[in-house]
Order: sequence, then C-alpha cells, then structure tokens
Amino acid sequence: MSQEQMERLTTLLPDWLETSRLHTSQGKVASYIPELAKSSQDALGIFIADSQGKVISAGDCGIPFTMQSISKVFTLILALMDHGEEAVFFNVGKEPTGDDFDSMIKLELVEPGIPFNPLINAGAITVSSLISGENPQEKSERVLQFFRKLAANDKIDYNLAVYESETESGHLNRSLAYFLKQNGIIKDPVDDVLEVYFRHCSIEVNCADLARMALVLAFDGVDPCSGEELIPRRYVQIAKTFMITCGMYNASGEFAIDVGLPAKSGVSGGILTMVPGQYGIGLVGPSLNKRGNSIAGVHLLERLSKEFDWSLF
Ligand code: DON
Repeated sequence: MSQEQMERLTTLLPDWLETSRLHTSQGKVASYIPELAKSSQDALGIFIADSQGKVISAGDCGIPFTMQSISKVFTLILALMDHGEEAVFFNVGKEPTGDDFDSMIKLELVEPGIPFNPLINAGAITVSSLISGENPQEKSERVLQFFRKLAANDKIDYNLAVYESETESGHLNRSLAYFLKQNGIIKDPVDDVLEVYFRHCSIEVNCADLARMALVLAFDGVDPCSGEELIPRRYVQIAKTFMITCGMYNASGEFAIDVGLPAKSGVSGGILTMVPGQYGIGLVGPSLNKRGNSIAGVHLLERLSKEFDWSLF
C-alpha cells in the first residue's frame, strides 16, 4: 500500500463506514435459514490487507459470520485442484443465469441440464460432490483445512448452530440435489453431498479471515507473505472470472459497473473482494438489499472504488 493511500484510507474509512452504515435500515437480514435471522441489522465492518502485512480496518470487523455462498469460490478451486478443468466443467457450466441463486428452472429447460455455473446453489452442490474424499466427513475436513490454510488461521471452524439450522430448513437445496441426482449429475447420495455443502456454507470467519483469503486471490494464488503457491494461477483466473460474472448474483453486472472488482457475497452479509495485485478485502454487513447483497457493504465498496480508482475496467 503506498504510504499516501494508506494514510488517506486510515483517515477517511471510519467516516465513510458510518455514512454507509445508515443504509442498513433500508435492507433486511436473511431469515430463510432461521439461525441467520439473529445477525445484527446495523452491523458493518471492513478489513483491508496488503502484501506487506499492513492492514486497515473499521467498524464491526471482528464479528463472526458464516461464509455461506462465499465458500463456493473456494470449493470450486479445491474441486479444480482435485480433478482439473475438464472434469469439473463436464458437470457445471460457465454462464450467468439471470435467475435467483436457488432457482432450478434452467436445470429443466436448458439442455444438457447441468447447472449454469458453480456459484448458484445447484452448481455449488454439484461442486461439493466433486471434492475428493472417501466420505462426507473426509471431504468436509479437506475443505476446512484448505480454508484454514488460505486464511492463515487454524482456528476457523463450523458454526454448528447455522449448519443444523440449514440442514433442517434447506428443503429447496434438497430438492435441487434430488433433481441433480435424478439426472446423474451428482453421483453420491443426496444427504452426503448436502452435508458437505451445508458444512462449507457454515464455516465461520471474520473480516480479517476473508481479507486474507482474498489476498491470496489478489496475488494469483501465491501467499504474498511466504511466497508459497497455494492455488495454481489458472484456477484463480477461473475463480476471479466467475466472481465478476456471477459473484454478486443478479447484481453482478451492476457491481462490475459501479465497483469493477471481482467479488463474492453471501446471505450472511459477507463480501470478499480484492484489488488484484494490491489488496484483499473482507467485509460484513448482514442487512441485505433486494438482490441478496450487503446493502451498506455495496455502498461502501462503491465509494472506495470511485475514490481510489480501483475499477479494473
Ligand atoms: O444454500 C444456501 O441457500 C446458503 N447456504 C447460501 C446462499 C447464499 O449465500 C446466497 N447468497 N446470496
């Protein structure tokens, strides 16, 4: 981080965050997974990390939250590392849908019936079935260890209350999984695949963890602190492209225009984003806009991107 940018950010970020926080009252905390409804509506926090170990944070950046859909980026990467591009994209497509993230409509309407992309629920459930391992426990353990390594935090773990809450209430995901099973797109038993999927969605992090995971992507898979390659560059390229085209659901086009950075959101209000080659950014704001993205978080990222000219486009 240049000294000048660092100083400007440090001075301005707390005020900008408080301005963005005012928008939380216009959104809603997700409640379709009952446990998520307990999140605080007015929370907002951000953590920015650079490759030199410099960090800037503001607001409620220490609060824990579950990764939800943000985890899909990293399970995709793990499945690619396990099986390679050809095998993964035999089972899941590369295109945005324009439908809701939990929609099943295109599975039936569009041949060959594979999910359109790995970031919608049907695609991510398919990807969960591709993680190597003898059983759901072993697969989940590999996912958890991979996330711990990327976040450089061995303490990251599941939020079991959220996991159980989604296991009890996730009927739509269950129906998606049965549909995929019927069509031969997933091979393992539905409950086994969903166990892996619900578990990785329930991995609990804070903004610093997300920022650090984002930093690895910002540096094309290399841990900028140790110089170790954690992810092959090609798979980071694939993940970042999906983040641009589908990472913010049906608001991905709008986000690309207004912010211009690869990003992935989750229903818990988390957003992972990055300025490639510069920063990893982790953000949380559980109050969501109509498209399911953190309402205040998107507001804050728009401001940051415009002020610091971060857009890639
Ligand atoms: O499967 C679900 O519905 C959640 N575990 C994850 C969805 C999610 O985060 C979509 N986000 N906007």
